Amino acid sequence: MPPMLRPTRAEISLGAVRGNLKKLSATAAPARLLFVVKANAYGHGAAELARLAEREGLAYGFGVSCVEEGLALRAAGLKSPVLVLGSLYPFESFVEAINSGMMVTIASLDAARQVIEASRRLGRKAECHIKLETGMGRIGARRPSVLKIYDELSSSGAVEVSGLYTHLSSADTDPDYTGQQLSIFGETVSDLEQRGAKGLTLHAANSAATLRYPVSRMDMVRCGIAAYGLAEGFSPAMQLKTSVVFIKNVREGAYISYNKSFRADRAMKIATIPAGYGDGYIRRFSNRADVLIGGRRCRVLGNVTMDMTMVDVTGVKEAAVGSEAVLLGRQGAEEITAAELAGLAGTITYEIVTLVTGRVPRVYVE
Ligand SMILES: Cc1ncc(COP(=O)(O)O)c(C=O)c1O
Repeated sequence: MPPMLRPTRAEISLGAVRGNLKKLSATAAPARLLFVVKANAYGHGAAELARLAEREGLAYGFGVSCVEEGLALRAAGLKSPVLVLGSLYPFESFVEAINSGMMVTIASLDAARQVIEASRRLGRKAECHIKLETGMGRIGARRPSVLKIYDELSSSGAVEVSGLYTHLSSADTDPDYTGQQLSIFGETVSDLEQRGAKGLTLHAANSAATLRYPVSRMDMVRCGIAAYGLAEGFSPAMQLKTSVVFIKNVREGAYISYNKSFRADRAMKIATIPAGYGDGYIRRFSNRADVLIGGRRCRVLGNVTMDMTMVDVTGVKEAAVGSEAVLLGRQGAEEITAAELAGLAGTITYEIVTLVTGRVPRVYVE
């Protein structure tokens, strides 16, 4: 590994993640906690956080979006159950998943046939969770198809059907719709029980549902965002920090950044920090977001560039090359939250942290 010289880094608090996972488990109990670590644990580093959870027994297993993410966990030495939440395609995905002992999502009759064939070929039973569509409109089989899928899988003798689940689209915003989704789920469970299904792990809840709707917790909850501290009452795990690398004083009328996107209306002191959209600090923050320097909020000036961003430090006497700059997180009494950045960018907190690119080293702190 080359030495880490550029000061830009994402500091990830293991203590925060540990506390968040414990709180989720305590809330969900007796339901088990599947720690959703897809998309590199929403930018926080999947292998590192999965290791923490496995080492300390903080989760039953891990939810990933695709087989590659599960393989990366296995390559990192993780032995816990892994559920692939996405629809598996192409056929080789089933083979790889089964070989690595991952649980797979089956959301269509076609996928059911493929997993049976892959299991037969490998002489190893795939563990399957059937995905029911109840209103998310993404992947999932509707109620009548789920019954056919269940019959096909269970009569094959080649695979084990161990779970049934659905995904709630609006648990954070719409109680009525969430109730409707849960009703469809409950009716489908009754149908399956009438067909003799027993011992299925039933799950529906994401973080929002786990926290709001006890009935949604069933046998297992699948939580991501709250584990990363981006839900009320949880501790944010990620901070994005760097240091000032250049300082200048400019006269009134000076232009800053591409396309003259800021014009100084007075003499100003300006800091340049080595972080930009190449790090996931998106261009939408241009002239909008604040950065913390010297414990104060300093406005981004002009367009955020790929690798550097300029910041107004006119009021921060002590600002100098080497001063710490916080793009996301706390400094002194001030804090820039993911919610604040999401609001400025017209997006959600999930996207703010997930967008932090691979160029940014993740540094784990207690
Ligand atoms: C199928 C599924 N379950 C659970 C989650 C976790 O959701 P959250 O991060 O809101 O807890 C996700 C994430 O979007 C998901 O796609």
